[in-house]
Amino acid sequence: MIDLSTKYLGLTLKNPLIVGSSGLTNSLEDIKDLEKKGAGAVVLKSIFEEEILMEYEQELKNVAFDDNNLEYYDYFDYKIKEENLGKYIALIESCKKEVNIPVIASINCISSAEWSLFAKKIQDAGASALELNAFILPTDLTRSGAETEQLYFDIIKNVKKVVRIPVSLKISYYFSNVAQMIQQLSETDIAGLVLFNRFYSPDFDIENRKVLSTHVLSSPQDLAISLRWIAIMANRVNCSLAASTGVHDGEAFIKQLLAGADAVQVVSTLYKNGTDQITRILNDLEDWMRKNKYAAIADFKGQMSQENSHNPAIFERVQFMKYFGEMKK
Ligand SMILES: Cc1cc2nc3c(=O)[nH]c(=O)nc-3n(C[C@H](O)[C@H](O)[C@H](O)COP(=O)(O)O)c2cc1C
Repeated sequence: MIDLSTKYLGLTLKNPLIVGSSGLTNSLEDIKDLEKKGAGAVVLKSIFEEEILMEYEQELKNVAFDDNNLEYYDYFDYKIKEENLGKYIALIESCKKEVNIPVIASINCISSAEWSLFAKKIQDAGASALELNAFILPTDLTRSGAETEQLYFDIIKNVKKVVRIPVSLKISYYFSNVAQMIQQLSETDIAGLVLFNRFYSPDFDIENRKVLSTHVLSSPQDLAISLRWIAIMANRVNCSLAASTGVHDGEAFIKQLLAGADAVQVVSTLYKNGTDQITRILNDLEDWMRKNKYAAIADFKGQMSQENSHNPAIFERVQFMKYFGEMKK
């Protein structure tokens, strides 16, 4: 018997495949389908901090026109947040009743401000855990790298003040010392890190001089960055690690487990191949484990991490010296 179960954020998952936050995890029907196809857990589509605040500001402008009463603002503040959250909370509550796999809520945040109170409502609605998609692109010329990094710690502190469910942090690799930052974050109260989130990438339409958003979906080649950092950080962190970005098939999935991931998130491949891809990936994993005589995930997880490598420098090699020397036109 092959046992695919794994521990992630202190939760027991029946297998390490998590459907990542996206439009695929936005409704009860879709989540039930993902569960039926075999997913070990799902991360709900994020509530965006910016979205909520933008709407809030717009409403404030409207009321400020005829009413300056502060109590009135307070009322509005409360009501608008309730409206935004209402649907999300209802989704968590219905998942709690009708879905058996862990459902992880998600907030996309860029500051450590008042939105952290939402986390408590998410917990009270029955979410198994909360993933914070900390989306801070370091473009602010007036903010130092250290200040930007501090924001992540402030976010965790504020959220952990109000919730006791496991909290994970989904981050980018835009840090001057990625390894140290990952390790330091893992020493906080978070239960896990997701390496890495993926940004919209700008592109240009040169005929109409317009900026476009392209490559919304990842490609299999995008695997390399998270594979490298999962392999480097495995067993060097004090929390769970989930791999995300570029996992499109069973082979890539197995690579991330060999690198040392406790769980692996998939999104783009499900958009491209349909949700049956979940079953295919899990079947490939089982076939490979059977062929290699592994009975459980722990039998091979992290076997190819940097720590277990005979040639650890290979994970740090970034130059193409050999290829430049040998490559023919
Ligand atoms: C259509 C779409 C919507 C997404 N929405 C969210 C979101 O709301 N919150 C979030 O943290 N990530 C979101 N993501 C990012 C995914 O969760 C994931 O990190 C990214 O797609 C990389 O994984 P992949 O290579 O398996 O697609 C979204 C991705 C796609 C394609």
